[in-house]
Formats: sequence, structure tokens, C-alpha cells
Amino acid sequence: MREQLEEAVAEGRMGDRLWLYATYHCNLACVYCLTESSPRIASRRAFSAPGMVQAVRDARELGFRSVGITGGEVFMLLDFPDTLARIAETLPVVVLTNGTLFTERLLDRLGRIADLDWALQISLDSDQPDRNDELRGPRNFARVLESIPRLLGRGIEVRLATTVERQTQAELERLCALHRRLGIPDDRHVVRPVVRRGRAAVEDMGVELGPTDVLPELTLTAEGAFLHPFAPTVRHGRTDLDLLVARQVAPLGEALGRFLRVVSGLPAGADVVRSLR
Ligand SMILES: C[S@@+](CC[C@H](N)C(=O)[O-])C[C@H]1O[C@@H](n2cnc3c(N)ncnc32)[C@H](O)[C@@H]1O
Ligand code: SF4
Repeated sequence: MREQLEEAVAEGRMGDRLWLYATYHCNLACVYCLTESSPRIASRRAFSAPGMVQAVRDARELGFRSVGITGGEVFMLLDFPDTLARIAETLPVVVLTNGTLFTERLLDRLGRIADLDWALQISLDSDQPDRNDELRGPRNFARVLESIPRLLGRGIEVRLATTVERQTQAELERLCALHRRLGIPDDRHVVRPVVRRGRAAVEDMGVELGPTDVLPELTLTAEGAFLHPFAPTVRHGRTDLDLLVARQVAPLGEALGRFLRVVSGLPAGADVVRSLR
């Protein structure tokens, strides 16, 4: 299985990162959210901490080289720093976060594990507070800007993610100037369009996802294994199953076997442009 994975990665059929959706619960309710996350979401779809840790241990044995953890908002899970430490002891990790829940206590807990191989990727959509907050909620800009120096000051690597719907080119350039001033270099800034899934589809926002736009990367949620991290979305409270690969996520080898069969039938190579990451 390890050899098959390495071959598929070398052929550009899949990435060597395993994604985990830790929870669909969130303190925010962004207008375009893929997962319809909110403080009042009916089903939080939490992935158990032992389940995530075991999946990552299995992933390392199977040949995966890194892990992405997303949601919802992972810091809604009170034990998340402990889970993160156990996962980061196994493989390098990027954690996607809205950057709004960093109390001094949480920062201290994260600072104590800063020497492990992990980074935070924080969402920020504009250099203008009102334009950003229109999409992501009141005071979001201010809270993110307060968090970044406090995280960097504790030795934590910070990346930035910008989701584009109607930002101007000048606005995006000013946002880049802002992240550079904050100490985040260009190669730690991801920019991608709103994808027309989840709340974005309901709100008539974003671009349709083409079959080869996203590099397949095995993505686990409490509900199953999916083709890539833009796949396990929620619309009108129901999980989209069009890109489901397997219902069972453990043992990981079985889910990976199904995933490899699916990706072997998809186009790959130099002709395929992956426009989203
Ligand atoms: C679903 S969020 C989960 C992590 C965290 N709550 C956050 O907002 O960063 C992961 C990333 O997906 C982005 N995102 C949300 N909805 C999207 C959509 N419809 N299309 C593209 N990206 C989206 C968010 O802006 C964020 O950068
Ligand atoms: S994009 Fe992130 S912060 Fe916004 S509602 Fe969705 S999960 Fe929460």
C-alpha cells in the first residue's frame, strides 16, 4: 500500500497530506462557509481525539508525510492543544483556524508545544476591517490582528489564508503588504476563490468546483473518508456525499485502498491544472 501511495503521489494523482475535520462546530458563521458551521450548528460531527491520533499514526506507516487539521473551528474543542501535540509528535501539521479564540491561557498551552513541527493557518480576507468583517463577522479583523503578534511572539509559525469573492486587486495587494508588516512572508499566504458549496451555494456565491481543480488528498471526518478537503461540505444541514470515498475511516489502510482506486481513474499529469489549494 505504501508503494502504491508513493507512486500516486509521484504521478501527481494525490497529495501526501492527510486531512482531518476535527469538528463542524464554530464560534463564527461566515457567509460563505463550506460546512455551514456556526455556534448553533445542529450536528457538530466531532471526530474523537483518539480516532484522530490513531489515524495519523497509521498514516505515517502508510507513507503520508504531513497532516492538515480543519473544521469548523478546532479551538472550540477544549482538549485540542493536547491532541495537536500528540499528532505533531507523529507528522508535521498545519492547523486551519479563524484566529479569534486565543486567550492568554490557550496561548500559553500552545507556546509550550511550539517546538514541535506544526503551524497555524489563519483566515483573513481583506486589509479593511469592514470589508473583512462583512464576510466573517463583527470584530473578526481586530481579533485576528491582535492574535498574530501574540502567536509569533511565542514562537508559533503563522500562515494566512484569504478566500476571495469580490476583493479588488489593489485590496489583495494591500493585504499582502499588511501580512509582510506582521512578519508573515509571501510563501505563507494562500489565496483562493470561494467555492460554490455549503453556505456559499445557498447564498449564490463562488465558483463551481471542476473535477480536477483540487488535488485529491485523503480527508477524514467523523462521517467518512472524502476525496479532498473541499469535499465534506454541508448544505441545508446535510453532508454532501458526492465526493465520499468510504464510510469507514478505520482502519486507515482500507479507506486508503478505496481512495487509491478512485484516484487511479481520475486525470493527472502535466495537462491537469490544480487551481485550488
Ligand atoms: C472551513 S474553514 C475551517 C477553519 C477555520 N474555521 C477558518 O475559518 O479558517 C477553512 C478555510 O476554508 C475557507 N472557506 C470557507 N468556506 C469556503 C468556501 N465556500 N470556499 C472556499 N474556501 C472556503 C475559510 O475561509 C478558511 O480559510
Ligand atoms: S469559515 Fe471557518 S470560521 Fe467561518 S464559519 Fe466556517 S468554519 Fe467557522
